[in-house]
Amino acid sequence: MKKKIVVLNGPNLNLLGVRQPHIYGHDTLADIEARLRARAATHGLDLDFRQSNSEGELVTWIQEVRESCAGIIINPAAYTHTSVAILDALLTCEAPIIELHLSNPHTREEFRHRSFVSAAAKGVVCGFGAYGYELAFEGLAKLVKTAAKK
Ligand code: DQA
Repeated sequence: MKKKIVVLNGPNLNLLGVRQPHIYGHDTLADIEARLRARAATHGLDLDFRQSNSEGELVTWIQEVRESCAGIIINPAAYTHTSVAILDALLTCEAPIIELHLSNPHTREEFRHRSFVSAAAKGVVCGFGAYGYELAFEGLAKLVKTAAKK
């Protein structure tokens, strides 16, 4: 059975492409998903790609995949800066977690400088726009393969 990488996207990321394109770029979430599907195929990995505007749904999804997935990439969007519930759910996962942001939150408003999620993350990718998803995927694929060899 192929190992599964789960990519979780938080609130308002369904509007990528039209939402503040000067910050988040012109690619849609569907564009990003298509590129990750191609990369997953190259690596022989399965991809489960989801988006929700609801904190509770994200927590439920993390619980659902926590034992079955090989790794998680999460862009928690605004919940990055507020959600202890998402942090707690991520802390129950053994698989590596990569936190991802299209923008670099550290160059933006002060309230974006704090991430609750980082405490559960093996790595953080930010500031590379949509391409950051591909960077995060490649990094996670490498971690997953290295872990498989041990
Ligand atoms: C974001 C950064 C967050 O501060 C913001 O609330 C988002 C998107 C990013 O990808 O740059 O919705 O996570």
